[in-house]
Formats: sequence, C-alpha cells, structure tokens
Amino acid sequence: MAIQWFPGHMHLTQKAIAERIKDIDVVIELLDARLPGSSANPMLAELTGHKPGLKVLNKQDLADPACTALWLAHYNARPDTRAIGLDASQTTPARQLIDACHALAPSRGGMAKPMRVLICGIPNVGKSTLINTLTGSRKAKTGDEAGITKLEQRITLADDFYLWDTPGMLWPRIIVAKSGYNLAASGAIGRNAFDEEEVALELLDYLKGHYAGLVEARFKIDPIGALSDEEVLEAIGRKRGALLGKGRVNLQKTAEIVMNEFRSGNIGRITLETPEEFAQWLAAGQLI
Ligand code: G4P
Repeated sequence: MAIQWFPGHMHLTQKAIAERIKDIDVVIELLDARLPGSSANPMLAELTGHKPGLKVLNKQDLADPACTALWLAHYNARPDTRAIGLDASQTTPARQLIDACHALAPSRGGMAKPMRVLICGIPNVGKSTLINTLTGSRKAKTGDEAGITKLEQRITLADDFYLWDTPGMLWPRIIVAKSGYNLAASGAIGRNAFDEEEVALELLDYLKGHYAGLVEARFKIDPIGALSDEEVLEAIGRKRGALLGKGRVNLQKTAEIVMNEFRSGNIGRITLETPEEFAQWLAAGQLI
C-alpha cells in the first residue's frame, strides 16, 4: 500500500521531543485502544530513554473491552510503565491520568518540583480532545485533518503540573503491513494516502474472523463465514443501495460506508489486534 508520509514534520517532532526530554518526568503515549500496537511509536523508547511511561488507551468506548483488558495487562507487566483506558471526552476518568503520573514520579509535586509531563500520540488519536477535557477549555484545536502539524506548547493543568504537547506524530516508515491497514482504517492517515477499497477489504477480513456476528447484524446480511472479503463488501454494498448502473456495486462508496461505520463504532466495539497477534505480525516480519 502506498502511503504518503510527511517526513519534514516527523523529523521536527522528533527533534522537539529529543530537546525537551531531559526536563520531563513522565512520558504519556496516547494510543488508539482499537489498535494499540499499531498506533504506538516504535521509536518512542529510543527518543525518551528510561523515563517512566504512561500508556493511555484512548477511545476505549469504541474498543472491545476484553481486548482492552489484554492490552492493559500487557503494558502494566512492564517495569516503569503504567497503562489506563480512557474515553477522552469523560472528565472524571481523564483525571486518572494525573493520578497515574503522580504514581510514576512520586518525588514530583508542589511548586518547587512541578510535575513535567510530555504527551505524544499519532494524529487523530484524541490528544486535543483529552487536553480540552483536562483543561476544561477549547485551547487545543480538535478535529484536525490527519498529518497537520502545530507547534509544541506547554499547558498548565495545575500550578504544579505542566503538560508539554507535541504535534501528532506518525513515524517515517510503517514497520508491519497490517499496521498500515489498521492505521488507515482508524482514520490516523489522511484519506488521500491510501486505497479505501483495499483498506476496507483488509478490515472486513479481520472482522470476518473475529466479529462476524456484529457485521451480519449491522448490515443485515446472511452469514459471512464462507464468503470471500470481496463478496462481503459486495453484499454490504447491495444492502445499502451503493450501486452503479446495471446492478453493479459501487465498491468505492461501499468501502467508505464500511470504514465510516467502523470508525463511528456503529458496527460495535471492535479491536483490530491483540497483543499476541501484534507480536506475531512483528515476528513474521511483514516489513514494507
Ligand atoms: P488529535 O488531537 O489527536 O488529532 O485528535 P482529536 O482530539 O482531534 O480527536 C479526533 C477525533 O476523535 C475527534 O472526532 C474526536 O471527537 C474523537 N475522539 C477523541 N477521543 C475520543 C474518545 O475517547 N472516544 C471517541 N469515541 N471519540 C474520540 P471528529 O469526528 O474528528 O471531531 P468532532 O466532530 O468530534 O469534533
């Protein structure tokens, strides 16, 4: 899959993190709970050294709760790392994040030693929403097109708690082909950078194997277990009336329908990878 990256922007963000990191106590990485492995930055550990890390699995309201539990256990088993699940628009749970930072860096707090936290995450993961929820204001702009940069900024959450925001960051190269598809399906990658039909077919392939019942119920189609991915896409297109002339299905439009329904959570609460599956993809070395 051809994905157009924004290397200039990525390099600037990496540089900003490298310069800031010496004054940071906790690094928060915001992950998409539907694809925690694929939405994690493989270069973050290298950039942030041994700083304590908080993994925030955002959009957990859209993810499969059983899979979120697996991912939280996976991250919480690591030393110097904590993980929590969030829906960024919910105020009370967002405060958990502050408590988790204090647990990771107990020596920080008070005016003399304020907590200094760096927050990073890929575009569209919900960083602006979370910051708005935490600050109770509209300071951070939400709903940006994937890949648009903005300058690093310091946000004061309390007199003794500073949050350094970095621009949404993808990395120069996606290391596993499946991650590219999952990132595209989630909306992290600008829509002009990939083929929607190809991404929708990959998405349906995973859903067929893991959430067939949800797909059948949402689109009111017959059992899909024995169908090819293309046949499932066609069945959905027919059901939704996405037709060209002579009874042919408009596959492009159907692909958009499938992805929009997935992104909005209308198909159901879905996670596209478990820790085990993600480890297998890495081990299989499906490099692109
Ligand atoms: P970013 O700064 O990381 O790029 O992401 P941003 O906060 O702009 O969020 C991207 C989209 O994801 C927004 O939707 C936002 O409402 C949604 N979102 C963020 N956090 C959550 C969450 O925890 N759960 C759910 N369900 N959605 C979340 P949008 O349609 O692009 O914008 P809007 O119409 O909501 O303004």
